[in-house]
Amino acid sequence: MNERTLGLGLIGLGLAGGVMAAAARTHPGIRLAAAAEPDPELRQRFEQAEGAPAHADIDGVLARADVDAVYVATPHQLHRAHAVAAAEAGKHVIVEKPMALSVADCDAMIEAAAANGVVLIVGHTHGFDPAVTMIRDLVASGAYGPLGMIAMWNYTDFLYRPRRPEELDSARGGGILYNQIPHQIDIARTIADRPVRSVRATAAVLDPARPTEGACAALVEFAGQGTANLVYSGYDHFDSDELHGWIAEGGSPKKRAHGAARRRLDGLTPAEERRARTSDFGYGARSPLPPPHQPHFGELVVTCAGADLRCGPDGVIAYTDDGVEVLPVPGRPWWPGRGDVLQELVDAVVHGRAAFHDGEFGRETVRTCLAIAESARDRREVFLSAPEVARHVPVR
Ligand SMILES: NC(=O)c1ccc[n+]([C@@H]2O[C@H](COP(=O)([O-])OP(=O)(O)OC[C@H]3O[C@@H](n4cnc5c(N)ncnc54)[C@H](O)[C@@H]3O)[C@@H](O)[C@H]2O)c1
Repeated sequence: MNERTLGLGLIGLGLAGGVMAAAARTHPGIRLAAAAEPDPELRQRFEQAEGAPAHADIDGVLARADVDAVYVATPHQLHRAHAVAAAEAGKHVIVEKPMALSVADCDAMIEAAAANGVVLIVGHTHGFDPAVTMIRDLVASGAYGPLGMIAMWNYTDFLYRPRRPEELDSARGGGILYNQIPHQIDIARTIADRPVRSVRATAAVLDPARPTEGACAALVEFAGQGTANLVYSGYDHFDSDELHGWIAEGGSPKKRAHGAARRRLDGLTPAEERRARTSDFGYGARSPLPPPHQPHFGELVVTCAGADLRCGPDGVIAYTDDGVEVLPVPGRPWWPGRGDVLQELVDAVVHGRAAFHDGEFGRETVRTCLAIAESARDRREVFLSAPEVARHVPVR
């Protein structure tokens, strides 16, 4: 007998909604039921390609009986309102990172989900990447001894992709601190599986024409054991995928293109930049095919007493006293990474298994982001007490 499939409604058909649509299409437990999107061009593209209805606002999706869950992929500042509305309509929720822009908003979302008996998952982040969860399991197994430190390095063109105005305004959640650093925090927290004790960070605004944080270096210390060193720059100079065999973040081959994102923006008005965002990144602009390699988020090296474990394009590379071994990442019958988000939803809703990346997990990542922003601003170490994270035990 076939297992129950969940009807999924996509809220927002921009970059995130477009990629999740492709992942949903290939997931055996998900049925793409509907979408909500104010842009008529994106709605038309979705309806033509998916044969499913696209509504102009979220209410149309929430009123549908064939929608069991929604994926909220609207701009950060709308996450709280959309997640709460969905929960109150009795729909399970996946909400994109950052979960919200304040801890109070995260709390409201957690409360709405609990009050209405629905599942709340925060994703996608690269903490769901199969190679990351494989490293988590290897560390947890103790096979390589205790965790010492986690190092991450990601250099991208993030700041020069076409942007909405609020994405270049730190006061409204713009820049890398709320958009890109959550990936690194989730990866580190997934592997360390401990509460964050403190952070010390610096952040830089290096282009007055894009006046928001585009570079960040943070030292995250975990309670009891382990640190993570997070380095990120989005200034479109060095591209760290050069160190990854020119495999892009999503797992597809890419070509060297230093400075191309800056050149694409040259001379565009803000209105033209907004349109370029839809044409370059909106629903339907990206390949609908699953990537041939593993997703990743820059370089990741995890140091244990007995080995360094590095994320490679197709597996985890273990550097031990005995040599170097590539451990292949177990295959998935779905889109690696984003399909794992959908599987976490299916596991929670259909099989009753507690979600790992639940609202409380997402809220702790937001708290860590806010602490990084505070540490960078005040030039001091910021301490977090996060007892609630301690209850997260990885599924092994
Ligand atoms: N996990 C990832 O890898 C990943 C990648 C990209 C974006 N994101 C996250 O997804 C969210 C959206 O980012 P994006 O890059 O897709 O932005 P985007 O601007 O490309 O897309 C957002 C879409 O939401 C639509 N929208 C705006 N108001 C709406 C409303 N009231 N109802 C329904 N739709 C509405 C917009 O018209 C737009 O098409 C952000 O929070 C971002 O952090 C995550």
